[in-house]
Amino acid sequence: MKPDRKKLAYPGFFISFEGGEGAGKSTQIRHLTKYFHDHKIPVVLTLEPGGTEIGSKIRELLLDPRNTALSSRAELLLYLADRAQHVTDCILPALKAGKVVITDRYADSSNVYQGICRGLGLKETMALNDYATYGLYPDLAIVLDLPVKLGFARMKQRVLDRMELEKSSFHNKVRRGFLQLSRKYPKRIQVINAAQTEDQVRVEIQDLVRNRIRKSKGTSLWKKMEK
Ligand SMILES: Nc1ncnc2c1ncn2[C@@H]1O[C@H](COP(=O)(O)OP(=O)(O)O)[C@@H](O)[C@H]1O
Ligand SMILES: [Mg+2]
Repeated sequence: MKPDRKKLAYPGFFISFEGGEGAGKSTQIRHLTKYFHDHKIPVVLTLEPGGTEIGSKIRELLLDPRNTALSSRAELLLYLADRAQHVTDCILPALKAGKVVITDRYADSSNVYQGICRGLGLKETMALNDYATYGLYPDLAIVLDLPVKLGFARMKQRVLDRMELEKSSFHNKVRRGFLQLSRKYPKRIQVINAAQTEDQVRVEIQDLVRNRIRKSKGTSLWKKMEK
């Protein structure tokens, strides 16, 4: 199924944050959102699963630790259902309105968690992602890469959800999966060393985003960022 390029054209800029648990996604998304606010650039901050009203119901199913019986395929399809709703209700309208959209996880998480780690196949998840997203992929996917042990140490104060409760061998596979995917799509997916200090990561992401917006859009968004 070929995406309809015309329907997917937009003046905004689409960024996803990916990576393992505790890598610093929420932290860095807060910093980047503030950076856009400071430049008076409209930004929509969202997440998966659960970026829409319907999605938040799907999120409850997916992350409830009691749902140990959920099969891998059912898990994948729930993530995809959430994503389809997310694209039509939230992401695409915001991009078409010229906004920056930052999402905490998107299609690459399904490729890694379900395609690679659950063994459903990368080819299969990529094809299903094409269907669920109408072919809409981030202009820039930022993978925060961190050794699993460090991620666990950073998560120790929180109550873990169903995915976070997976064994460390699973989380190691997740880490390797994101690195594998970034080698396959070296331009769209950028890996950042998340073991650096919070501020070092913040600056690296800011430089990367500035560069990409300057190169890929060169329009009103960049004019605002230049200031
Ligand atoms: N670069 C960093 N160095 C040390 N601790 C960090 C860093 N980035 C985030 N943290 C802390 O690690 C924990 C997990 O970060 P969080 O942003 O919630 O990760 P994620 O959203 O990827 O699961 C938080 O307590 C956060 O303050
Ligand atoms: Mg988070």
